[in-house]
Amino acid sequence: MYKYIIHGQKKLKGEVVISGSKNASLPIMAASLLTKEEVILQNIPDLMDIQTMRQLLEMLGKKTVFENNTLSIKEIDPSLYEAPYDIVRKMRASIAVMGPLLARKGQAKISFPGGCAIGPRPIDIHLRGMKALGTDLLIEHGYIWAQAKELTGKQMDLMGNFGPSVLATENVMMAATLAKGITIIEGAAREPEISDLADCLISMGAKIKGSGTSIIEIEGVKELGGTSHTIIPDRIETGTFMAAAGTTGGEILLKKVNILHMEEVIEGFSKAGVEIEILSQDSLVARGKNIRPVEIETHPYPFFPTDLQAQLMALVSISDGTSVISEKIFPDRFMHAAELNRMGADIKVDGATALIKGVKNLSGAAVMASDLRAGAGLVVGALAARGKSEILRIYHIDRGYEKLDEKLRKIGADIERVPQ
Ligand code: EPU
Repeated sequence: MYKYIIHGQKKLKGEVVISGSKNASLPIMAASLLTKEEVILQNIPDLMDIQTMRQLLEMLGKKTVFENNTLSIKEIDPSLYEAPYDIVRKMRASIAVMGPLLARKGQAKISFPGGCAIGPRPIDIHLRGMKALGTDLLIEHGYIWAQAKELTGKQMDLMGNFGPSVLATENVMMAATLAKGITIIEGAAREPEISDLADCLISMGAKIKGSGTSIIEIEGVKELGGTSHTIIPDRIETGTFMAAAGTTGGEILLKKVNILHMEEVIEGFSKAGVEIEILSQDSLVARGKNIRPVEIETHPYPFFPTDLQAQLMALVSISDGTSVISEKIFPDRFMHAAELNRMGADIKVDGATALIKGVKNLSGAAVMASDLRAGAGLVVGALAARGKSEILRIYHIDRGYEKLDEKLRKIGADIERVPQ
């Protein structure tokens, strides 16, 4: 296990090339199960969750080769259909293989995902969607056994109590590509990662309309072919570097971004005092100015994302006023608040709302990452803090950021990865 040692208060200056989106890559990798032909994916970030998904695809009969951010996926054994506990417990996004397996092989055996550091994460919407397409489901011995002789298109509403579900929308969309007839998903999630998946599926021969809106229509086809597809930029990594520019009073040129996906994030960080200058469709400069308090709620896309809530909280913990951040997607996703308080922040969590009284300075401390984005929030805090911080359990950060420490070091951060 490794930890980061960060000596804070270094102004970050320079350029960072943003990697491909983790949350677009994972379902798109799963989509390769829908075809016997080769799928080639470019701009795949080199990070742990990608390795985990590769491992899962190999257990499901694929051969994968990953070089220079390009992943080739070829089929060697079409008969396999089990996603075991050992993989699913490491990465909940493994559930994304359910739709493709059912559509192509008529069955899937998937370990039932358990608890998670960001709160309860049920999968009822996924199951509802699969049932609507004609799947028989049995939950036994910690596994979901799903079977369908033939999937049949259906009109369904996938809205959940906390809004639409990203992975459930993706799962059902993938299953429906090979179902008989037309599927209409109402209450669909609208994240850019869903449109990226739809674009990839369309390039494989799928018939999909309406991705990026809350109603998606899929007309099933007999089979899908291979493709070559380039993954969209990671909007959460982009936002994380905006927060890092903000807390350090730095100036970071971010390249290979997609500003069309960043509207509310740019607005949120601008309100918090990060000056954002858009240079082109794929590049912008983020400058730390006077950090200001904000009142922000996280919501599904196109609104401010939950995956940047911890980083924003770290940023405004050194503003000159009181901020209110409410979490409307994962109401318990506040494990980082107590750790930021160890660094001298003044954060009180009440239900799904955090009240952050800005302090003049954070002070370096040993803290623990509880999940990926909480870990990123602690890095943002440590970059601003006086003195030395140690961030433990950075395997959470490694799950979702490509070479975060290297990228930060290149722009002037004093950050080291050492054995824990
Ligand atoms: N929900 C249900 N039932 C379901 C599925 C979801 O009630 O069957 C609820 C969730 O508990 C939550 C809300 O619906 O309250 C939205 O969750 P969603 O299903 O959209 O989350 P997800 O698809 O499992 C993806 C990202 C997460 C990101 C969320 C929200 C991937 C691989 N993961 O998860 O990313 O936080 O959407 O935007 O796309 C991360 O990258 O750190 C991460 C956790």
